[in-house]
Amino acid sequence: MRAVIVREHGPAGAQRVETTPDPAPGHGEVVIDARAIGVNYPDLLVIEGRYQFLPPRPFSPGKEVAGVVSAVGPGVTRFRPGDRVMSQREYGTYAEKTLSPEATCYRLPDTLGFEEGAALGLAYQTSHFALVERGGYRTGETVLVTGASGGVGLAGVEIAKALGATVIAGVTSADKGELARRHGADHVIDLKAPKLRDSLREQVYAAVGKRGVDIVLENVGGEVFDGALRALAWCGRMVVVGFASMRLPEVKANYLLLKNIAAVGLQWSDYREREPVWVQRVQAELYALWSEGKLRPYVSERYPLERFAEALACFVERRVRGKMVLLP
Ligand SMILES: NC(=O)c1ccc[n+]([C@@H]2O[C@H](COP(=O)([O-])OP(=O)(O)OC[C@H]3O[C@@H](n4cnc5c(N)ncnc54)[C@H](OP(=O)(O)O)[C@@H]3O)[C@@H](O)[C@H]2O)c1
Repeated sequence: MRAVIVREHGPAGAQRVETTPDPAPGHGEVVIDARAIGVNYPDLLVIEGRYQFLPPRPFSPGKEVAGVVSAVGPGVTRFRPGDRVMSQREYGTYAEKTLSPEATCYRLPDTLGFEEGAALGLAYQTSHFALVERGGYRTGETVLVTGASGGVGLAGVEIAKALGATVIAGVTSADKGELARRHGADHVIDLKAPKLRDSLREQVYAAVGKRGVDIVLENVGGEVFDGALRALAWCGRMVVVGFASMRLPEVKANYLLLKNIAAVGLQWSDYREREPVWVQRVQAELYALWSEGKLRPYVSERYPLERFAEALACFVERRVRGKMVLLP
């Protein structure tokens, strides 16, 4: 099979698509023939060697794939060859075939296409866990999503709206704001406004009143984090999801005390590894919301596997809207 292989960490594009042996399923594993491969910001960090978990080299990057089961190992009970599935992995999906444990494999609804299926995975799981589990969302609360036009952010907007929240989308341009509105945002704020540390809160207050927001799903870091923390309501919760700006923020503990607020983090892949049944349950909920028309994964770009570096360049150049997929 063909696969992107990382032999040395470095800039995306320095790696080649190589021919490697087809994987053979071990106990409890399935082989998936890829039809669409989800592209995620962490893929870039893994390739460059800047991510918190790095696989032993050489390896194939990539964290999600939708496709068709072509082989199953002993002990597999839920799948058989021919099944349409999506899988979440720590790495290994930038390939024509992916080996996946049965536990992190999810059957695709019959009418969900492979591209949307590959998009309705990591980003949606991340935002769902951030909102519901880490953020302790209660129906009707107000939720601010930063980086709302990106993969995780747009999923967060859709999920929060689907669960009955008033949603504020933080974006950096008018057209990205329109995109967020089309996917459920009630209000849009400008993350490029000057003096964001104060102006973010002013924009939130103008949108929903001086109470502020109950939950922030924070994907950006830096000044966006600083401003969003100040926009929290009494007993609000800041959920740290990512640092797309590459700037790590800091919190003064007295501020948490003074406002009765909480700052918590989310590392979704821990749930995938430690709580696969829970993650399966959330995936079923995501599919149910999708079948009700409440989630609409937006695949904005498609690239052949060989052009993976062009897809990853969109993260660096800040051109991402929703999700991108690779087509093997
Ligand atoms: N915690 C977890 O388990 C988990 C799981 C998956 C991803 N993540 C992290 O979540 C973050 C988002 O991932 P993603 O896949 O959604 O990436 P993405 O598609 O590139 O989205 C990033 C978003 O952040 C915005 N952004 C970037 N720099 C910004 C800045 N300086 N100021 C304001 N907005 C800025 C982008 O807006 P513009 O396009 O306008 O710049 C975009 O909307 C990343 O840090 C990723 O590593 C965490």
